[in-house]
Amino acid sequence: MTFKVVISDPLSEEGIQPLREAENIEIDIATDCDETQLIERLQDADALLVRSQTQVTRELIDKAPQLKVIGRAGVGVDNIDLDAATERGIIVVNAPDGNTNSAAEHTVAMLMSLARNIPQAFQSLQAGKWDRKTYIGVELKHKTLGIIGLGRIGAEVAHRAKGQRMNVIAYDPFLTAETAQKLGVEQGTVDEVLAKADFITIHTPLLDSTRNMINADAFAKMKDGVRIINCARGGIIDEDALYDAIVEGKVAGAALDVLSVEPFVGHKLLDLPQVIATPHLGASTVEAQESVAIDVSMDVIKFATDGTVRNP
Ligand code: NAD
Ligand code: MLT
Repeated sequence: MTFKVVISDPLSEEGIQPLREAENIEIDIATDCDETQLIERLQDADALLVRSQTQVTRELIDKAPQLKVIGRAGVGVDNIDLDAATERGIIVVNAPDGNTNSAAEHTVAMLMSLARNIPQAFQSLQAGKWDRKTYIGVELKHKTLGIIGLGRIGAEVAHRAKGQRMNVIAYDPFLTAETAQKLGVEQGTVDEVLAKADFITIHTPLLDSTRNMINADAFAKMKDGVRIINCARGGIIDEDALYDAIVEGKVAGAALDVLSVEPFVGHKLLDLPQVIATPHLGASTVEAQESVAIDVSMDVIKFATDGTVRNP
């Protein structure tokens, strides 16, 4: 019997090649569908592969009677209703490390761009100005980077920050003294990280416990002139509080790859000259997209073959 895989977000063509080559697997590319059309395409689907655009809601899951596997070509599964999937016995798989390097590199790019005002200076040049006064930056060397969430990406960012000769202090509830020592980072409480850091970068998932964790109280505990980077998830930083903290001069700048509602074109934070942003590009490299698509494709092939996955 044929195993039907619907792909509803653009995935790397090289990454889904194993699915195309697998016996008894049929692929249905449904990247240009609205919700009603997607539900129609899901009527006889065994698997659904998504990136972050498709909202895999309870309603969608309920209306996909044959669905057995949902694959997320990336880390965060916050666009999938896990409770609804679990109740139906649907396996949800992700690609936990296929984009770690890309997300860490993007974070470092944002950190350096923020420190040296690179996007703003380029915009100014494009506007015909030769302004060398406005864009005086700050060095990273001997500054303290605070990392909240020292998992895969946080740890990679820590390595790279050490290469910039930064001091690194990190908070993660699962961080052991041994791991901190191995990574060469100081272990701190959240409050210690907030108080000591010149730059703060967030690398936690969006959970009930992390939603708005960087709020007005948190900003009040930070150094004056702190700079914030968020390449994890929108919703972890309280955006109104960040806006106020920048306008009041508490926060000198923010580099944001994610905001709570995406697309975030027109968001008031983008009007502030101290803010630089990218449209959720952390994992958007050829290498990462190929890698995450291969990971979920291999899981689907394994499930179609023997009913199990490598990474449930
Ligand atoms: P990971 O699971 O390896 O690490 C997350 C870490 O956060 C864990 O070590 C966990 O213990 C820690 N954590 C959980 N709750 C915390 C809290 N309250 N305070 C401090 N730490 C806490 O995940 P990862 O691969 O490092 O990815 C992190 C997040 O980055 C993902 O969940 C995803 O949302 C996001 N991400 C974004 C992009 C992008 O394109 N911008 C790309 C990849 C991942
Ligand atoms: C992720 O969680 O992996 C990221 O959001 C990357 C993405 O899919 O764009």
